[in-house]
Amino acid sequence: MKTETIAIHAGNHVDGSSKAVIQPIVLSTTFERGEDGNFPGGHIYSRASNPNRALLENVIAKLEGGADAAAFSSGNAAGMSVFQSLAPGTHIICPDDMYHGLRNQLKNLFAGILTFDFIDVNDSEVLQQHIRPETGVIWVETPSNPLLKITDIKKVVAIAKAKGIKVVVDNTFATPICQLPLTLGADIVMHSTTKYFGGHSDLMGGALITAEKSEWWAKIRQVQEMGGAIPSPTDCFWLVRSIKTLPYRVKGHVNNAQLLAEFLEQHPKVERVLYPGLPSHPQHQIAKEQMLAFGGMLSFIVKGDEDDTHNIINKLKIFTRATSLGGVESLIEHRATMEGPDTKTPFNLLRVSVGLEHIDDLIADLSSALA
Ligand SMILES: Cc1ncc(COP(=O)(O)O)c(C=O)c1O
Repeated sequence: MKTETIAIHAGNHVDGSSKAVIQPIVLSTTFERGEDGNFPGGHIYSRASNPNRALLENVIAKLEGGADAAAFSSGNAAGMSVFQSLAPGTHIICPDDMYHGLRNQLKNLFAGILTFDFIDVNDSEVLQQHIRPETGVIWVETPSNPLLKITDIKKVVAIAKAKGIKVVVDNTFATPICQLPLTLGADIVMHSTTKYFGGHSDLMGGALITAEKSEWWAKIRQVQEMGGAIPSPTDCFWLVRSIKTLPYRVKGHVNNAQLLAEFLEQHPKVERVLYPGLPSHPQHQIAKEQMLAFGGMLSFIVKGDEDDTHNIINKLKIFTRATSLGGVESLIEHRATMEGPDTKTPFNLLRVSVGLEHIDDLIADLSSALA
């Protein structure tokens, strides 16, 4: 089946008893055992599994082309479950512009348990230099947040596989509509489903998708079940509902982002636009080869200082000043002040989550704010 069909059908089936066309929300935390002590409904207790979560995990696994998926209560909970599944002393190689929430998690919660380096993962020489005997995972985030840097997944996988190292790709910015890391050799894909999967800025969630049901995956499932950072049945229901329109929403985001990037690139008040769909992007060629589409996120660097940058966003009428991404409404963010004191993000950079409003209105809004 094609992506659009999977998105609509793999998370839903007609309910066996009520014949409801849309799966009902199963709020029960516990499930009746048969006289023989078994669990005829396939579920025991909702922390371990629940009908709504099972459907959500099925559609996400199918969209990414994986063998299985595990849903979590947030993207950070999904990332944390990967870290918790690793043996103490494991070394992780991470991108130097890794999503700051996960970078902070490693630095603050895993120091002394795991070891890690933050490097330019796309630089093969630097990557090889940092591999140690105890390196267990190379973490990839592409396009990265907020610099939209592209990492060549196949190249990283080749280096990792030669040394028996696993590759995890944070695919939040791309979504499976724009990029399928498992087909490029990655072992696990991570998502903040808070973003494009949810798509309406109204729920939190995360997911991991595995290429194969390995021993490592069984450990991750244990972390999910025993740690309990799971989404509620209601959140699973809303996510399944939103995923049905994911392919069409993402196509709209991508179209608008490309047009907005082209408009900004021509603007005299803009120093640089960071969008993988622009030929001027330093890794445009890699993006063209490994992505199906270039995504709905872009950043741009304003000609001016931090005050000039704030002045621009304060004049906008349609774009909302807020963090996060992937919702139908356009958001704009002064990223450096969100990332905290150790940020490497330029203070004249603005990150845009391009929404699904009409492109003419978005361009007109930015045009008058930049004037
Ligand atoms: C690339 C990326 N990964 C992970 C996360 C964490 O997701 P959540 O906020 O759902 O915990 C985010 C959130 O902004 C993100 O942008």
